[in-house]
Amino acid sequence: VDVEVIEEDFSLSGYEHYMRKEYLEQPASAEAVLRGRLDDRFGTPRLNGLNLDPRAKREIRRVKVIGCGSAFYVGQMGAQMIEELARIPADAEPASEFRYRNAVIEPTTLYVAVSQSGETADTAIAVDEIKRKGGRVVGVVNVVGSSIARACDGGIYLHAGPEVSVASTKALTNMALAFAMLAIDLGRVRDLSVSNGRRLIAGLQRIPGQIAQVLENEDQIADVAKRLSGAPSIFFIGRVRGFPVAREGAQKFKEISYRHAEAYQSSELKHGPLALISPELPTVAVVPHDELTGRNLGALQEIGARGGPLVAVTHGDVDFGELIVERIDVPRNEPELDPILLTVPMQLLAYHAALHLGHDIDKPRNLAKSVTVE
Ligand code: G6P
Repeated sequence: VDVEVIEEDFSLSGYEHYMRKEYLEQPASAEAVLRGRLDDRFGTPRLNGLNLDPRAKREIRRVKVIGCGSAFYVGQMGAQMIEELARIPADAEPASEFRYRNAVIEPTTLYVAVSQSGETADTAIAVDEIKRKGGRVVGVVNVVGSSIARACDGGIYLHAGPEVSVASTKALTNMALAFAMLAIDLGRVRDLSVSNGRRLIAGLQRIPGQIAQVLENEDQIADVAKRLSGAPSIFFIGRVRGFPVAREGAQKFKEISYRHAEAYQSSELKHGPLALISPELPTVAVVPHDELTGRNLGALQEIGARGGPLVAVTHGDVDFGELIVERIDVPRNEPELDPILLTVPMQLLAYHAALHLGHDIDKPRNLAKSVTVE
């Protein structure tokens, strides 16, 4: 069983807000979720807490991820990683929906419940429902010994330490890292080669240091955030790997800045929302360096041509040509893992917009850290 004793530190330690303290802790908390779990020789993670032997892993035909709020968005990122790296059909659904629709539970599906607190009622009830119908559930959970962790057949603890701010930061990053490990693990018992496994394990090892590099850029991101905070509404766009990043970016922005933000697939812009683009509506675009960069730039051209202000969360080597773009650059890792790093500036954008607007950042109106009642 996967148990590690961590020091529980609930103090603000001189920071103005827990949210900032917690996002600045990420280089260390990311180290903690990876510690002891990466085998670079075999190019595979060691996730003993899953309680799945290689044969059980090979028998999985489908993966269904459930969670609420930000945990759902990271779950969507995770499902994409699993489908891409392990070639198992995978998707994510809000646990709050899943539990009400009398879902078909299959013995060959692996269910993954994602929750920072491990106490979210919708997720806990969905887990009970899956178990009652004979399904197998693993947890991606931060709080050791929580209700969801106990109800699951196994899982990956996040070791992020206590998270107090309602807007989740370090726990989310660790969820994404846990999913990356799960995807590589399920891939390595299938067709993911040892060389690809080693490439991805090496990528994971670089992430804590690269998160520190993103955080060093805080002043520039804060400037962009201040300008965005004046807009009545913002689009967050991305496609495929970038889309869960955009969704989480919009969610964070809404939660603490109280500004309307909507996430959209860049690929779908031309099928509707392009009608809204104007100089008053800024767009934050997630533009990773991958096989879809060219298509992403095409969508940005469409926005630029209509006078829509553009912020790109991207990598230093992406060339925007003539486009006028305010860029936030994050280091490149491996394309499959880049969504993890691209999500970090979204936290800082939301935080600094809310700070500028003078909101109660750690306790946004109408929201609770974990919704444990129905
Ligand atoms: C609440 C919080 C969200 C959080 C969600 C899931 O709605 O306001 O920020 O993402 O619960 O919480 P969990 O503890 O299950 O990850």
